[in-house]
Amino acid sequence: MKLTLPPSVKNWLSLAGVIIVLTSLFMIVFLFIVSSLLSEQAAYLGLVTYILLPAVMILGLLFIPIGMFLELRRVRRGGVHSPVGWPKIDLEKPRHRNAFFIFVAGTGFFVLFSAVGSYEAFRYTESTNFCGMLCHTVMEPEYTAHSHSSHAQVACAACHVGPGADWYVRSKLSGLYQAYATVADIYPRPIPTPIKNLRPARAVCEQCHWPQKFYGHKLQVSTHYLSDRDNTPWRIGLNLKVGPSQAALGLSEGIHWHSNPRTRIDYIATDPGRQQLSWVRYTNLDSGKVQVFRDKSLTVAVGSPPRGELRTMDCIDCHNRPSHLYRAPAQFISTAMTAGRIPVELPEIKKLAVQVSSRPYPSAVAAREGIRAGITQFYRLNYPDLLAHKQELVEKAVTGVQDGFAQNIFPEMKVSWQAYPDNIGHLYFKGCFRCHNDNLVSEKGATISQDCVLCHDIAIQGTPGKGMEVARTGESLVFRHPEDVGDAWQDTPCSDCHSGVSP
Ligand code: HEC
Ligand code: HEC
Ligand code: HEC
Ligand code: HEC
Ligand code: HEC
Ligand code: HEC
Repeated sequence: MKLTLPPSVKNWLSLAGVIIVLTSLFMIVFLFIVSSLLSEQAAYLGLVTYILLPAVMILGLLFIPIGMFLELRRVRRGGVHSPVGWPKIDLEKPRHRNAFFIFVAGTGFFVLFSAVGSYEAFRYTESTNFCGMLCHTVMEPEYTAHSHSSHAQVACAACHVGPGADWYVRSKLSGLYQAYATVADIYPRPIPTPIKNLRPARAVCEQCHWPQKFYGHKLQVSTHYLSDRDNTPWRIGLNLKVGPSQAALGLSEGIHWHSNPRTRIDYIATDPGRQQLSWVRYTNLDSGKVQVFRDKSLTVAVGSPPRGELRTMDCIDCHNRPSHLYRAPAQFISTAMTAGRIPVELPEIKKLAVQVSSRPYPSAVAAREGIRAGITQFYRLNYPDLLAHKQELVEKAVTGVQDGFAQNIFPEMKVSWQAYPDNIGHLYFKGCFRCHNDNLVSEKGATISQDCVLCHDIAIQGTPGKGMEVARTGESLVFRHPEDVGDAWQDTPCSDCHSGVSP
């Protein structure tokens, strides 16, 4: 049997349709092969492969019957049929031969380049540069913080889009609105947190960190500086009980016990930022035992939870700043001093640097100038000799403070540590003490433990070289507060005095 096409197919529109269909089909197949060979995240590439190109292909398919219809109508109206005959190619003739080979080679190159070109274009939209730089002002804080985090090499899309078609479409839909908001300049400053349409944390984080991976303890040493003339250093080494003390115990105890598959913790927050928790329920999924801790001041009946969104605790409830941590002045100044970017030998530099970093500035440029003016004026007034002889130290301090500020505080977007609390720890924010406190009590009067050795052992503390205490392995020191505040550190949450600026 011979397959014949109706003569009406032979018209320019239908022919163009055929070319469009074949080209897009080729590109779909090509991109499909590329994205399955490269097993990396390719969410935006997927948009092209599965949405954009098929749309183009359908357009091409539509051209074919439309062209046929128009052609038939023309014929019926008495037009002469079939203006497009099949070209007769005679490869014996040198002119035909050359034209034929140029056509074939040209088409080959065109198809190859368009495939590679479209692939490159969409690799770019997938990249961190695209997310962070394209809408520069809006995303500058997130981009900057990200590039200084442990996740600097993890693409924005790995956490914010992730694999899976439904999340892909959801994030693209909200992305469309975000693009509109950016162009129309109606986006909120700062961008509200927590974000509503983030993929479930476990699906995101467990691509790379699976629960079985948490073993043992993690030693974390940091150096603080007091606000005195000498900037007295105070070192603290914590042995964080990230996992249990015996690796073979799995996640049965320690900090990641909350992520244990047999543990489920639900809570209700009274504020959108999830900082004030009024009701916490722990369910042991093995035994079915349920324990409810309620805010003492709640007036609703004991059996029923208060109004508000019920949320099941996951990674993000503690790790809410895995990639965008905006440090408080007290924190980033200490870090810069330890790293030698702010000279420790300058008198009163800790106190001064924190002060000039915590003033409100209208813009990043104003902040740079304000920091310079604040620091130089202080030394000119109080230590005129020093400014004369150690000008370069003061200059270094100015740069160190300016850089620290620029990495952590973004006046234009109103982004700072105050806008984005960090839930790990309890020094500047309530963090773990949102649940581990005296306020939430069970029916039997029990609270969620605040024992100082529940989450960490204190391995070292004190001023290096001046009677610094060191614990024996596996033991904890009794906490000593660097400044004499009596018993206040036991009765008052640390964050009541430590707000990120000098207490
Ligand atoms: C390691 C995972 C991860 C990576 C990588 C990542 N983010 Fe995030 N991002 C988060 C989490 C978690 C939140 C906060 C979620 C919450 O609290 O609800 C967040 C929040 C945000 C927010 C909302 C404002 C805020 O700070 O809470 C923006 C905007 C944002 N990210 C942009 C970006 C951009 C741009 C990049 C790439 C430069 C990026 N993110 C990379 C995990 C990530
Ligand atoms: C694409 C892989 C990837 C994803 C997704 C990812 N991470 Fe990571 N994470 C890493 C890498 C790589 C490191 C750095 C490891 C190192 O420095 O040893 C890291 C480090 C960390 C650390 C240790 C940080 C530190 O400073 O010691 C924490 C905590 C963490 N990730 C939490 C998260 C959370 C929470 C999420 C989900 C929102 C997440 N990660 C998603 C790859 C990833
Ligand atoms: C949403 C509430 C909530 C938050 C926030 C929270 N916890 Fe818990 N945590 C609990 C509950 C409930 C228990 C179980 C209490 C009990 O059994 O009496 C618990 C128990 C623990 C335990 C003991 C686990 C074991 O070995 O049995 C550790 C360690 C712990 N939490 C560490 C932390 C740390 C560190 C943070 C902050 C990064 C934190 N928690 C934040 C609710 C919370
Ligand atoms: C109860 C709060 C809490 C929850 C829930 C939680 N973490 Fe952690 N996690 C911590 C604390 C506290 C640390 C130690 C401090 C740090 O490394 O920042 C930590 C450390 C880590 C580290 C670094 C471990 C190391 O040895 O360097 C990774 C990775 C991590 N968490 C991933 C996750 C993932 C993934 C989830 C969700 C499955 C999760 N965490 C759930 C509190 C929590
Ligand atoms: C529910 C768990 C938990 C309890 C209870 C707890 N801590 Fe912590 N603590 C943490 C975590 C988590 C960090 C932060 C580690 C980090 O910075 O990544 C921390 C940090 C600290 C730091 C170091 C601060 C810094 O930035 O260097 C000190 C000091 C400290 N805790 C003392 C105490 C004392 C004293 C108590 C008892 C009153 C206590 N902690 C109770 C979880 C806890
Ligand atoms: C009653 C108020 C108060 C409480 C509560 C309190 N502190 Fe402090 N803390 C201070 C003062 C005041 C200083 C001295 C500040 C300085 O010299 O800059 C200080 C200094 C420190 C420093 C060294 C300097 C710095 O700013 O980093 C650390 C670390 C510290 N406190 C940890 C804690 C921890 C952990 C807790 C909770 C267990 C706590 N503090 C509770 C008032 C308090």
